[in-house]
Amino acid sequence: MAQLPSPKALVPFVSVENMMRLVHRIGLETVLKELTDVIEADFRRWESFDKTPRVASHSREGVIELMPTSDGEIYSFKYVNGHPKNMARGLQTVTAFGLLAEVSTGYPVLLTEMTILTALRTAATSAMAARHLAPKGARTMAMIGNGAQAEFQALAMKAVLGIEHVRLYDIDPQAIAKAVINLSGSGLMVTPCTSPQAAIEGAEIITTCTADKQYATILTDNMVGAGVHINAIGGDCPGKTELHRDILLRADTFVEYPPQTRIEGEIQQMDPDYAVTELWKVVTGEAKGRSGARQITLFDSVGFAIEDFSALRYVRDRVSATSFYQELDIIADPDEPRDLFGMLQRAKA
Ligand SMILES: NC(=O)c1ccc[n+]([C@@H]2O[C@H](COP(=O)([O-])OP(=O)(O)OC[C@H]3O[C@@H](n4cnc5c(N)ncnc54)[C@H](O)[C@@H]3O)[C@@H](O)[C@H]2O)c1
Repeated sequence: MAQLPSPKALVPFVSVENMMRLVHRIGLETVLKELTDVIEADFRRWESFDKTPRVASHSREGVIELMPTSDGEIYSFKYVNGHPKNMARGLQTVTAFGLLAEVSTGYPVLLTEMTILTALRTAATSAMAARHLAPKGARTMAMIGNGAQAEFQALAMKAVLGIEHVRLYDIDPQAIAKAVINLSGSGLMVTPCTSPQAAIEGAEIITTCTADKQYATILTDNMVGAGVHINAIGGDCPGKTELHRDILLRADTFVEYPPQTRIEGEIQQMDPDYAVTELWKVVTGEAKGRSGARQITLFDSVGFAIEDFSALRYVRDRVSATSFYQELDIIADPDEPRDLFGMLQRAKA
């Protein structure tokens, strides 16, 4: 792993503007591929991380969450919200920022926007899961829910798995139209659809990424044929799911961190002893991924702190040789560590 330089009082900060520049400098699909590999590398060493379900503050409108983890050398956290009704007010459903710190001193070493980075890491995590679970040679995906995450999800599946065709559906035709425009010229064949049934026709991978704070039924059991891989992204907090529970009775379900997913994922609908496989065990070869052509695999994604840790670590490595960051004066730097009071006098008029 790259060594962090000594912490300083001035903390590198990656703004939204600089994150956009960084992504274009590297190339979006390259970022998605590299992130997929960085996340997979951290899933391989899953046991070396501190893990806890995220700390969530729920309200009627949504949720605000803190997502911390540490590998003993580096600590990270992300602040993220999920407010499905925001869109009607011209605001995003999900926004985020995050921080990396050196464990040995506690000093921050990176502060960054994470709204774009969350879309990138969520798409990369989906691709990583699909690499292990989707039918070999999958070329068509259905993308149900065409909001902020959608294009990133489709492009990660193209970059990492070689998906050639995406079939789009959203209850809002404007969202479909937006995704069609954004994906034109991407090299993907794009088909807008008028129903979820039409969208999943011929798709080997079905991604659901809708936002609605309710037990929604984006897919019913009779819609899902044998052999597909379902990537369920949108059900990620208590009372918010996307799949009918009968699908889960037929599927083999793979999760990030069971104590968090049992509260937040599709499996909140199931009995507490409903069997799941931890995705990191599939990555290390300890557990089986896809085992048959007719098997339905389900990645019940809720988003876990280790994926943010990986993404933050990636940004820190990739931004260091560029000018795409500013230095923020957010840590006090007294001349003598105990003379904080003396330092205050520097600013006396
Ligand atoms: N698992 C993760 O790691 C992770 C990460 C980021 C976001 N999310 C979740 O993914 C979801 C989508 O996020 P986003 O940023 O794209 O939100 P968004 O609000 O930008 O888009 C959501 C889209 O879903 C559509 N939609 C709502 N109900 C639908 C239905 N019944 N059928 C079809 N489409 C429907 C909306 O019209 C909207 O276009 C949210 O619930 C968010 O919390 C999960």
